[in-house]
Amino acid sequence: MARIFLDTAKLDEIREAASWGILDGVTTNPTLMMRAGTADLKANTLKIVEMVQGPVSAEVVRTDAAGMIEEAREILSWSEHVYAKIPITVEGLKAMREISAWPNGRINATLIFSPVQAYLVARAGASFASIFVGRIDDAGLDGMEVVRQTREIFDNYGLDCQVLAASIRTTTHVVEALLAGADIITLPFEVLQRMVRSPFTDAGLASFLADWAKVAK
Ligand code: E4P
Repeated sequence: MARIFLDTAKLDEIREAASWGILDGVTTNPTLMMRAGTADLKANTLKIVEMVQGPVSAEVVRTDAAGMIEEAREILSWSEHVYAKIPITVEGLKAMREISAWPNGRINATLIFSPVQAYLVARAGASFASIFVGRIDDAGLDGMEVVRQTREIFDNYGLDCQVLAASIRTTTHVVEALLAGADIITLPFEVLQRMVRSPFTDAGLASFLADWAKVAK
Protein backbone atom coordinates (compact mmCIF):
# COMPACT_ATOMS: atom_id res chain seq x y z
CA MET A 1 0.00 0.00 0.00
CA ALA A 2 1.24 3.49 -0.80
CA ARG A 3 1.14 5.86 2.15
CA ILE A 4 -0.37 9.34 1.78
CA PHE A 5 1.47 12.26 3.37
CA LEU A 6 0.39 15.89 3.38
CA ASP A 7 2.98 18.38 2.09
CA THR A 8 2.23 21.33 4.35
CA ALA A 9 3.05 22.88 7.70
CA LYS A 10 -0.44 24.38 8.10
CA LEU A 11 -2.10 22.88 11.15
CA ASP A 12 -5.69 23.48 10.03
CA GLU A 13 -5.08 21.53 6.79
CA ILE A 14 -3.41 18.68 8.66
CA ARG A 15 -6.18 18.54 11.29
CA GLU A 16 -8.82 18.37 8.56
CA ALA A 17 -7.00 15.72 6.48
CA ALA A 18 -6.29 13.65 9.59
CA SER A 19 -10.02 13.63 10.38
CA TRP A 20 -10.65 11.87 7.04
CA GLY A 21 -8.79 8.82 8.36
CA ILE A 22 -6.44 8.36 5.40
CA LEU A 23 -3.48 10.51 6.40
CA ASP A 24 -0.26 8.62 7.14
CA GLY A 25 2.28 11.41 7.63
CA VAL A 26 3.40 14.96 6.85
CA THR A 27 6.35 16.57 5.10
CA THR A 28 7.41 20.15 5.76
CA ASN A 29 10.21 22.35 4.45
CA PRO A 30 11.37 25.93 5.17
CA THR A 31 9.08 27.35 2.44
CA LEU A 32 6.08 25.50 3.85
CA MET A 33 6.95 26.80 7.34
CA MET A 34 7.03 30.33 5.91
CA ARG A 35 3.60 29.77 4.32
CA ALA A 36 2.29 28.50 7.67
CA GLY A 37 3.59 31.72 9.22
CA THR A 38 5.72 30.16 11.94
CA ALA A 39 9.43 29.99 12.69
CA ASP A 40 9.02 27.61 15.64
CA LEU A 41 9.92 24.35 13.95
CA LYS A 42 9.87 22.30 17.14
CA ALA A 43 6.48 23.48 18.41
CA ASN A 44 4.88 23.17 14.97
CA THR A 45 6.37 19.74 14.32
CA LEU A 46 5.19 18.43 17.69
CA LYS A 47 1.66 19.72 17.09
CA ILE A 48 1.66 17.87 13.76
CA VAL A 49 2.93 14.68 15.40
CA GLU A 50 0.07 14.87 17.89
CA MET A 51 -2.47 15.01 15.04
CA VAL A 52 -0.92 12.40 12.76
CA GLN A 53 0.97 9.88 14.90
CA GLY A 54 2.98 8.96 11.81
CA PRO A 55 6.18 10.13 10.09
CA VAL A 56 6.62 13.93 10.15
CA SER A 57 9.60 15.43 8.33
CA ALA A 58 11.36 18.57 9.56
CA GLU A 59 14.13 20.02 7.41
CA VAL A 60 17.61 21.10 8.48
CA VAL A 61 18.77 24.53 7.30
CA ARG A 62 22.53 24.35 7.84
CA THR A 63 24.46 23.30 4.73
CA ASP A 64 27.68 21.87 6.22
CA ALA A 65 27.75 18.26 7.36
CA ALA A 66 28.60 19.10 10.98
CA GLY A 67 25.78 21.63 11.14
CA MET A 68 23.26 19.24 9.57
CA ILE A 69 24.28 16.52 12.03
CA GLU A 70 23.85 18.89 14.97
CA GLU A 71 20.42 20.02 13.75
CA ALA A 72 19.33 16.45 12.99
CA ARG A 73 20.36 15.35 16.49
CA GLU A 74 18.04 18.00 17.92
CA ILE A 75 15.17 17.35 15.46
CA LEU A 76 15.27 13.59 15.99
CA SER A 77 15.15 13.98 19.77
CA TRP A 78 11.67 15.59 19.60
CA SER A 79 9.71 12.42 18.86
CA GLU A 80 10.06 8.92 17.50
CA HIS A 81 7.80 10.02 14.62
CA VAL A 82 10.08 12.79 13.41
CA TYR A 83 12.36 12.39 10.38
CA ALA A 84 15.25 14.76 9.67
CA LYS A 85 14.96 16.08 6.13
CA ILE A 86 18.39 16.46 4.57
CA PRO A 87 19.22 17.66 1.03
CA ILE A 88 21.26 15.52 -1.36
CA THR A 89 24.58 17.38 -1.53
CA VAL A 90 28.09 16.17 -0.77
CA GLU A 91 27.74 17.58 2.76
CA GLY A 92 24.26 16.09 2.99
CA LEU A 93 25.56 12.64 2.06
CA LYS A 94 28.29 12.84 4.71
CA ALA A 95 25.67 13.83 7.27
CA MET A 96 23.28 11.04 6.19
CA ARG A 97 25.99 8.42 6.46
CA GLU A 98 26.66 9.41 10.08
CA ILE A 99 23.04 10.01 11.15
CA SER A 100 21.79 6.75 9.64
CA ALA A 101 24.12 4.85 11.97
CA TRP A 102 22.30 6.23 15.03
CA PRO A 103 19.55 4.07 16.56
CA ASN A 104 17.07 6.92 15.89
CA GLY A 105 18.65 7.96 12.56
CA ARG A 106 15.46 8.52 10.56
CA ILE A 107 16.24 10.46 7.37
CA ASN A 108 14.08 11.85 4.60
CA ALA A 109 16.57 12.73 1.82
CA THR A 110 15.22 15.70 -0.09
CA LEU A 111 15.63 17.70 -3.31
CA ILE A 112 16.18 14.58 -5.44
CA PHE A 113 15.97 15.18 -9.18
CA SER A 114 17.56 12.01 -10.65
CA PRO A 115 17.75 8.25 -10.06
CA VAL A 116 21.49 8.48 -9.38
CA GLN A 117 20.88 10.95 -6.56
CA ALA A 118 18.24 8.56 -5.20
CA TYR A 119 20.71 5.67 -5.40
CA LEU A 120 23.30 7.66 -3.43
CA VAL A 121 20.93 8.58 -0.60
CA ALA A 122 19.79 4.97 -0.33
CA ARG A 123 23.44 3.93 -0.04
CA ALA A 124 23.95 6.61 2.62
CA GLY A 125 21.16 5.08 4.72
CA ALA A 126 18.21 7.40 4.09
CA SER A 127 14.80 5.95 4.97
CA PHE A 128 12.96 8.01 2.32
CA ALA A 129 14.13 9.39 -1.03
CA SER A 130 11.99 12.44 -1.93
CA ILE A 131 11.79 12.86 -5.70
CA PHE A 132 10.56 16.31 -6.79
CA VAL A 133 8.29 15.23 -9.63
CA GLY A 134 6.58 18.58 -10.36
CA ARG A 135 9.82 20.54 -10.38
CA ILE A 136 11.39 17.99 -12.77
CA ASP A 137 8.37 18.41 -15.05
CA ASP A 138 8.83 22.20 -14.80
CA ALA A 139 12.34 21.75 -16.21
CA GLY A 140 10.84 20.06 -19.29
CA LEU A 141 11.77 16.54 -18.16
CA ASP A 142 9.63 13.60 -17.02
CA GLY A 143 9.43 13.61 -13.23
CA MET A 144 7.51 10.37 -13.01
CA GLU A 145 10.17 8.58 -15.06
CA VAL A 146 12.60 9.36 -12.22
CA VAL A 147 10.16 7.70 -9.80
CA ARG A 148 9.83 4.64 -12.08
CA GLN A 149 13.58 4.27 -12.58
CA THR A 150 14.29 4.74 -8.88
CA ARG A 151 11.68 2.08 -8.02
CA GLU A 152 13.39 -0.36 -10.40
CA ILE A 153 16.88 0.41 -9.10
CA PHE A 154 15.86 0.02 -5.44
CA ASP A 155 14.12 -3.27 -6.30
CA ASN A 156 17.08 -4.56 -8.36
CA TYR A 157 19.38 -4.24 -5.36
CA GLY A 158 16.92 -4.70 -2.52
CA LEU A 159 17.74 -1.24 -1.17
CA ASP A 160 15.98 -0.46 2.09
CA CYS A 161 14.88 3.07 1.19
CA GLN A 162 11.32 4.13 0.39
CA VAL A 163 10.49 5.94 -2.83
CA LEU A 164 8.66 9.15 -1.91
CA ALA A 165 6.95 11.02 -4.76
CA ALA A 166 7.09 14.72 -3.83
CA SER A 167 6.33 18.04 -5.51
CA ILE A 168 2.98 16.61 -6.60
CA ARG A 169 0.75 19.05 -8.46
CA THR A 170 -2.15 17.05 -9.92
CA THR A 171 -4.33 14.03 -9.29
CA THR A 172 -2.81 12.56 -12.48
CA HIS A 173 0.56 12.74 -10.73
CA VAL A 174 -0.98 10.73 -7.89
CA VAL A 175 -2.30 8.03 -10.25
CA GLU A 176 1.05 7.83 -12.03
CA ALA A 177 2.95 7.62 -8.74
CA LEU A 178 0.68 4.76 -7.60
CA LEU A 179 1.23 2.94 -10.91
CA ALA A 180 4.98 3.55 -10.66
CA GLY A 181 5.06 1.82 -7.27
CA ALA A 182 5.93 4.81 -5.08
CA ASP A 183 5.92 3.84 -1.39
CA ILE A 184 4.78 7.29 -0.28
CA ILE A 185 3.10 10.20 -2.04
CA THR A 186 3.23 13.61 -0.37
CA LEU A 187 0.75 16.11 -1.68
CA PRO A 188 -0.64 19.57 -1.05
CA PHE A 189 -4.02 19.66 0.71
CA GLU A 190 -5.64 21.04 -2.43
CA VAL A 191 -4.62 17.94 -4.43
CA LEU A 192 -5.95 15.67 -1.67
CA GLN A 193 -9.27 17.53 -1.82
CA ARG A 194 -9.36 17.11 -5.60
CA MET A 195 -8.79 13.35 -5.19
CA VAL A 196 -12.10 13.07 -3.33
CA ARG A 197 -14.23 15.20 -5.60
CA SER A 198 -15.98 14.36 -8.86
CA PRO A 199 -18.83 16.37 -10.39
CA PHE A 200 -20.37 13.02 -11.36
CA THR A 201 -20.43 11.92 -7.73
CA ASP A 202 -22.12 15.20 -6.75
CA ALA A 203 -24.66 14.93 -9.57
CA GLY A 204 -25.32 11.25 -8.82
CA LEU A 205 -25.84 11.96 -5.14
CA ALA A 206 -28.16 14.91 -5.86
CA SER A 207 -30.32 12.80 -8.17
CA PHE A 208 -30.48 9.89 -5.68
CA LEU A 209 -31.59 12.27 -2.92
CA ALA A 210 -34.11 14.00 -5.18
CA ASP A 211 -35.63 10.64 -6.15
CA TRP A 212 -35.71 9.49 -2.54
CA ALA A 213 -37.59 12.66 -1.59
CA LYS A 214 -40.30 11.71 -4.10
CA VAL A 215 -40.95 8.32 -2.50
CA ALA A 216 -43.98 8.25 -0.19
CA LYS A 217 -42.82 7.45 3.35
C1 E4P B 1 8.95 17.52 -0.38
O1 E4P B 1 8.90 16.95 0.68
C2 E4P B 1 8.77 18.96 -0.59
O2 E4P B 1 8.24 19.54 0.59
C3 E4P B 1 7.78 19.33 -1.67
O3 E4P B 1 7.12 18.25 -2.22
C4 E4P B 1 8.24 20.41 -2.59
O4 E4P B 1 7.31 20.59 -3.59
P1 E4P B 1 7.07 21.93 -4.40
O5 E4P B 1 7.73 21.77 -5.71
O6 E4P B 1 5.59 22.03 -4.52
O7 E4P B 1 7.66 23.06 -3.59
